Amino acid sequence: MGVLMKVSIIGGGGLVGSSAAYALQCGGVVSGICLIDANKELAQGQALDLLHGASLVADQRISAGDMSDVKTSDIVVVTAGLRRKPDESRLDLINRNVELFLGLLDQMTSVGFKDNAYLVVVSNPVDVLTYLAVKRSGLPWQRVLGLGTVLDTARFRSILAKRLQVAATQVNALILGEHGDSMVPIWSSASIGGLPLEQWPGSGPEIEREVFEATNGAGAQVIKLKGGAGFAVGLAIREVIESIALDKRRVLPVSTSVQGAYDLRDVCLSVPTEIGCGGARKHIELALTPKERLGLQNSARVLRETIAAAEEGRSRDSTKPTTVQTRASKEIPRMAWQSK
Ligand SMILES: NC(=O)c1ccc[n+]([C@@H]2O[C@H](COP(=O)([O-])OP(=O)(O)OC[C@H]3O[C@@H](n4cnc5c(N)ncnc54)[C@H](O)[C@@H]3O)[C@@H](O)[C@H]2O)c1
Repeated sequence: MGVLMKVSIIGGGGLVGSSAAYALQCGGVVSGICLIDANKELAQGQALDLLHGASLVADQRISAGDMSDVKTSDIVVVTAGLRRKPDESRLDLINRNVELFLGLLDQMTSVGFKDNAYLVVVSNPVDVLTYLAVKRSGLPWQRVLGLGTVLDTARFRSILAKRLQVAATQVNALILGEHGDSMVPIWSSASIGGLPLEQWPGSGPEIEREVFEATNGAGAQVIKLKGGAGFAVGLAIREVIESIALDKRRVLPVSTSVQGAYDLRDVCLSVPTEIGCGGARKHIELALTPKERLGLQNSARVLRETIAAAEEGRSRDSTKPTTVQTRASKEIPRMAWQSK
């Protein structure tokens, strides 16, 4: 079943953007895929490569475009930005990606979004950039979705399945909170084939610790081995987009502006959210353990501090490179990469 929907990917020449485009092509659901990138030739090359496979997969409009395509796009995905280095936290990226993202938001709002458009934020630090997008895009908060812990949750389920030697698609388990070091594993509702994980033969605290450590370190491991994540994040982006396009109403841990769920507000992070037509249709409140609830509050605190540091840095002097302190970094000059 196809849907008349054009998806534009800003950063579409890069690894994440092109992997998302390929996943959307294989999904065959949306009718148009447009790749936009500062590196125009790269976007053209990726679009051409995808186009060559069109006859084998799906009848879609595939193109390379520019920012003017925003005004005709139903969904705009932002994957433009710099990747983490293996030893860098995602929050370190705030120093390098915030300026770039705000520049893109300015361009998008001056071109103008289509009525009822959605913005899907993927670039890191994704929760911080999603918060800025909610504030500045002019779109209703329900239509601004960060990828949040959708990828972490996919990794968590897949790693747990491999460890317990069970079918990956039958494992249900969530990662909530920050897409980053303070992410929270929700063991209390984990299940396999509808059966509670805690009763599953062989499961226990030792395996839980091992699986969560592997999940939390998964991004850095992939970056170290192959330079950056591509396939799984592409599929995670497709999951969100197809849930919107087909009004599937899947419950996904996207990052959105929380409005009081879990006693959290004035921050964007991942809580279970029903995704369908209109975007974030509702936040779902689970009965969490006290440890899980505390974990979520900790993620919110970490993210609020980072947002405050970013806003403070900008209001002091928006023309000069400034520095945001994150936990893993000391003094990374913001925008230093731009002068290289
Ligand atoms: N949220 C998640 O789960 C998740 C997972 C993986 C990666 N990421 C993030 O995605 C981002 C992209 O990662 P990648 O591996 O694709 O990097 P990449 O370097 O392969 O691609 C980034 C692309 O952005 C383009 N770009 C830079 N500035 C631009 C601008 N102003 N306008 C248009 N295009 C621009 C670059 O030319 C490049 O092609 C990073 O911030 C990374 O941390 C997020």
